[in-house]
Amino acid sequence: SERKDELRSQIKQLLIDKNAVLVAHYYTDPEIQALAEATGGCVADSLEMARFGRDIQADTVIVAGVRFMGETAKILSPEKTVLMPTLEATCSLDIGCPEKEFTEFCDAHPDHTVVVYANTSAAVKARADWVVTSSIALEIVEHLDEQGKPIIWGPDRHLGAYIAKQTGADMLMWQGECIVHDEFSAQKLEDMKAIYPDAAILVHPESPASVVAMADAVGSTSQLIKAAQEMENSTFIVATDKGIFYKMQQLAPTKNFIEAPTGGNGATCKSCAHCPWMAMNGIQSIYDALSGGNEGHEIFVDDVLREKALVPLNRMLDFSA
Ligand code: 13P
Ligand code: SF4
Repeated sequence: SERKDELRSQIKQLLIDKNAVLVAHYYTDPEIQALAEATGGCVADSLEMARFGRDIQADTVIVAGVRFMGETAKILSPEKTVLMPTLEATCSLDIGCPEKEFTEFCDAHPDHTVVVYANTSAAVKARADWVVTSSIALEIVEHLDEQGKPIIWGPDRHLGAYIAKQTGADMLMWQGECIVHDEFSAQKLEDMKAIYPDAAILVHPESPASVVAMADAVGSTSQLIKAAQEMENSTFIVATDKGIFYKMQQLAPTKNFIEAPTGGNGATCKSCAHCPWMAMNGIQSIYDALSGGNEGHEIFVDDVLREKALVPLNRMLDFSA
């Protein structure tokens, strides 16, 4: 629409005026991903977003995604202004892993190495020995397992179960889940696979074990996009947030992508393969964040927490460098 076009051109000017860059996750609206690409920002998975936000020369980083992604950017670049379209965009994994309870869990098992998923608050990261994202979790846990120490894993129990199965590592699991991926149904996926027998199944490891077990490729958002490009199949059934179709279609325009089914046992889906918090990001709220006085958009992280959380985050970034 005309209004959107006007907002887009104003955002482009504001990014220049403020020496700002837009960093977007693959689950955000295609309009946002396209705008990030058109303005020298980036569209990425959570590990690449962290690295890009840290390395880019800019005064301001505007993070279109969910809160932990903004916090990670701020922890890695305290000298930058980090803005988000909305500060309300959280994540069910973050909500399901409160600092106090998680700390008690860790304190009860002092001989364990604490590994937390990036989808957590700065306070939970501050308690961890390692932070991981889905693209690097397997390698890091393999490395830790070689050292023979037991691991506390939090908060995603599905990702944890997948990693434990692949590595054989001794992992004590926090019981959290992603409300979006938890809804994918193996039973319905079987039915869909019967209709498209030649389709490859791509699965994000936040999905239940029964769904992961049916996958032809398992990985982070970036890894699934890569699989879609590299695999020979012409049809793909994709078990992750539907925001990812924008990039898959862009990079593999001749292939067909189908949403994996949600809602097992007759239940209707609540999130329907789209994260409600990612959906809070919009062109209007990006404009608001850049044009206002930062209030209600700027990310702050307490200094003491920041310095503690930086240690396990840097371990991850150094490991993957
Ligand atoms: P990725 O690191 O794979 O982008 O995942 C982030 C996320 O929130 C998945 O739900
Ligand atoms: Fe969190 Fe799931 Fe949304 Fe990713 S898709 S941000 S894990 S609730």
